[in-house]
Amino acid sequence: MLNPAAHQPRSASAWPAQPFSAVVAGTGSQVPERVLTNADLEKIVDTSDQWITERTGMKERHISAPDEAASDIAVKACEKALTEAGVESADLDLIVVGTVTGDMPFPSTACVLQQRLGAPRAAAFDVSAGCTGFIYALSVARQFVASGTSRTALVVGVELLSKITDWTDRSTCVLFGDGAGAAVLKADTRPGKGILATYLAADGNGGKHLYMPAGGSRHPASAETVRERLHTCKMNGNAIFKDAVRSMADAFRHLLRQTGLGFDDVKLMIPHQANLRIIEATAKLLNFPPERVFVNIAKYGNTSSATTIIALDEARAAGRILPGDVVILLAFGAGLTWGGVAIRF
Ligand code: UT7
Repeated sequence: MLNPAAHQPRSASAWPAQPFSAVVAGTGSQVPERVLTNADLEKIVDTSDQWITERTGMKERHISAPDEAASDIAVKACEKALTEAGVESADLDLIVVGTVTGDMPFPSTACVLQQRLGAPRAAAFDVSAGCTGFIYALSVARQFVASGTSRTALVVGVELLSKITDWTDRSTCVLFGDGAGAAVLKADTRPGKGILATYLAADGNGGKHLYMPAGGSRHPASAETVRERLHTCKMNGNAIFKDAVRSMADAFRHLLRQTGLGFDDVKLMIPHQANLRIIEATAKLLNFPPERVFVNIAKYGNTSSATTIIALDEARAAGRILPGDVVILLAFGAGLTWGGVAIRF
């Protein structure tokens, strides 16, 4: 059970009026070339296409090459987003990356991207919020843009979970895929445009259900941590399944309350793609029409902090989001963390 205090409505002073709107001017996404199907996984662990499909909705996922790092995938997503936005990398004021599988523990992957993209003016840092990473990163960047501190910001969700997957653990290795997405935010003086509201929440009590034990100051890397596979992701999926549904539904309601929007005003819900059953249960709990819920989990699996931005980019490319439409992104992940963002395009 998540900390009930985290679900309390917040006072209006928590979201003061901002001088600028933060408009999403461009998006881009990228996944590695190699595809790993459920049939491929049947050869690696004791699993079946039927179990994976019925329990998760996943059919295949993209897996990075041994020499590919997070920034290698992310840089391509960023270039696409910058091109669509018509923003030169040299003009970026800020780069925020949501990731827990950056190129290395430090420097941040945001700094790596700043160098690779050629964005010398940009401040750059990473945000660690598990699968909610992109939502957290977007919310942070929005504050910089809306307050007038940054005119343009690049926000990235990138994860190469395959690099921290225990390929002998069937309860996790079938779930994850690699990928990246990026969005460019621009300051806009027209009110009611772009990001209308954000909602972030966390409950550290649930941290034990989804974590990587070693590689930090608690258990620095050693021969023993490697031998015991402590540099891989551990998840008690069962323990967080219900909270994932309840938390994303809660975030959705908070966003409606903040914006004053009704269900009919929301063109598309884009939830974190961790499990098709979680997505369907969230829509059902909210009584939100399933045809207005975007799902691409079959193709990519759970790309953690990249799921919502990859999905947003695909939904836009598919013509499912038109000018004026309101979209709500929702996510849930390690921390535990959860939250959402309401955007008018
Ligand atoms: O993105 C970050 C947040 N993550 C999530 O939100 C994940 C949330 N959790 C989930 O999506 C689901 O809990 C899972 C997909 C991880 C697991 O589905 P489940 O329906 O909760 O399965 P379970 O863990 O209760 O396992 C049911 C059975 C077990 O066998 P027994 O004990 O009933 O005999 C497992 O050993 O399924 C077995 N099992 C598998 N069987 C075939 C677990 N993994 C597999 C597998 N293939 N890959």
